[in-house]
This record gives sequence, C-alpha cells and structure tokens, in this order.
Amino acid sequence: MDLGFGGRRVLVVGASAGIGFATAEALAAEGAEVVMASRDAAGIAAAADRIAAAAATGRRPATAVADITQDGAAEALLAEVAARWEALDAVVDAVGGSIRSGFEALSDADWIGNYTFNVLSAVRVVRAALPLLRKGRAPSVVLLGAAASRMPYPNQIVSNVHKAGLLGLTKTLAGEYAAEGIRVNCVAPGRTLTRLWTDRAAKLAAERNVTAEDVIAEFAHEIPLGRFGNPEEIAAMVVWLSSPRASYVTGQTVNVDGGIARGLL
Ligand SMILES: NC(=O)c1ccc[n+]([C@@H]2O[C@H](COP(=O)([O-])OP(=O)(O)OC[C@H]3O[C@@H](n4cnc5c(N)ncnc54)[C@H](OP(=O)(O)O)[C@@H]3O)[C@@H](O)[C@H]2O)c1
Repeated sequence: MDLGFGGRRVLVVGASAGIGFATAEALAAEGAEVVMASRDAAGIAAAADRIAAAAATGRRPATAVADITQDGAAEALLAEVAARWEALDAVVDAVGGSIRSGFEALSDADWIGNYTFNVLSAVRVVRAALPLLRKGRAPSVVLLGAAASRMPYPNQIVSNVHKAGLLGLTKTLAGEYAAEGIRVNCVAPGRTLTRLWTDRAAKLAAERNVTAEDVIAEFAHEIPLGRFGNPEEIAAMVVWLSSPRASYVTGQTVNVDGGIARGLL
C-alpha cells in the first residue's frame, strides 16, 4: 500500500532513539522529507546518519536540536523548520515518559516536571506548528500517549495522570481544528523495547540480583501477546495515522500494546 508520503514534509520530535527514531526511519523509507529533533546534537546527527545508511531510505533527514521542555524551545524549533519549509504536512511528538514511584514520595517538582515532559511539551509543539500545518497538505498531528492512559499501572501515578491527559488533549484539539482539515490523533504504546525499558530493566535487575532478561520476561508475562513490542511496531501505527490514508480518522487514541490494556474503551 502506498501511504502517500512522497514529497510530504514531517517533523518528528524525540527522533534520535526509540519510537521517534523508528517513526522517522519509516517515514523516510516511505518517501517523506523529515526533520528529526531531540536534545543532543551528536545523537540526532548520528540517528540521521543511520537512516541515510539504511538501504531502504537512501536519504538523510534534516536535524534540529531542541529540548522541548524548555520555555521557547518549541517556538525556536518551529522557526527553524519554517526557515526550511513554507508548510508542514505532519508533526509527531514522541517525547515523554514515566517516574516509577509511590504517591507519597513524589514532590510538586516531580509532578510539574512530568507534566511538562508529557503534556506541556506536546501543547507547545502543536501550538508552534499550527501556522505551518495550516499551509500543509492533509495535515496531521500524532502524539504519543501510553497504554497507561487507559489502564493505570501501579507505582506510576504521575505518568498515569499525564498520559490520560493526552487523551483529552487529542480529542479536544481534533474537535477544534477539524474545520481547518487538521487531524489530531494519539498512539498509546504498551511495553516497548526502547532504552526507556532497557534502562529500567537494568536498574531493577541490579536491585533484585537477577538479569535484565529475567526482568523483561517477568513484565512480558502480563502481556497477552507474551512479549514486549518493538519500536517499529508502534511506529507503523504512527506513520499510518500521519498519512493521507487515515484521512477520516481524528480524535482517536489507538493502543498498540500487545493487548495489555484490557478495558473495553
Ligand atoms: N517504551 C515504552 O515502553 C513506552 C510505553 C508507553 C509509552 N511510551 C511513550 O512513547 C514515547 C517515546 O518513548 P520511547 O520509549 O521511544 O523513548 P526513548 O527511547 O527514551 O526516546 C525518547 C526520544 O525523545 C528525545 N527526548 C527526550 N527528552 C526530550 C526533550 N525534552 N526534548 C526533545 N527531545 C527529547 C530523546 O533524545 P535525547 O535524549 O537526545 O533528547 C529520544 O530521541 C514517549 O512519549 C513515551 O512516554 C513508551
């Protein structure tokens, strides 16, 4: 199936690793022009080089450096994109994460920091991108939520709350911008093998005196499909939702989670 990305211009924020990287790589393979952004200049350049070297793509995405949790960073990033392109057809924001902690151990600073990481950063990226998206062809926004948006995990209260907030943000923005033809959707991954989980598994393994593989196997046990997802499996949904093939889909949060979130909605 041709997803229709030929000549389309896409910004992926959080693109040096994990799901954002897999998304940028898949978009480039589909023929999109991509700007990849993350905090570390060397890391994002190396990620773009990896995509350029991959036989499937043969093109090197442009790169930008931004820490979107910082005031003014999203605006500066989009100004950089505007200097390159007069319009933007799609934006993916793949920045976010959790804190593993019980409720009482979390300070106000933890709550505000995680809110900025998961919610405010997405708000800022979308708001700064709107002028370019308005000039785009079949424009689309995809945010990254979490299966925890629908099935709160124990010991992750702060991201349970903020990832659930992304459902509301997605639905509300979709309603507000539908008349302008801008679609807004969210992909909610389950446990996915990125550094987020490899780091966590290494830490838990050291605490429990077991191997990281043991930890991954233990957490995989709760997943109906019996294994963690790969970043490429999450990216496949992000890319499809970003494409003109998803032209009648907006305001949706789609779980790609191996079945772990067992609720009906
Ligand atoms: N992996 C999972 O199991 C899982 C499960 C549920 C939801 N998710 C969600 O999926 C999304 C992607 O997760 P992931 O596992 O792919 O994460 P990851 O492997 O840690 O990658 C995160 C990416 O974002 C960049 N980044 C981090 N902070 C940033 C900032 N302040 N400004 C700009 N870029 C930043 C990182 O690069 P630099 O460090 O160089 O900036 C990296 O490119 C997140 O929203 C996460 O909450 C993941």
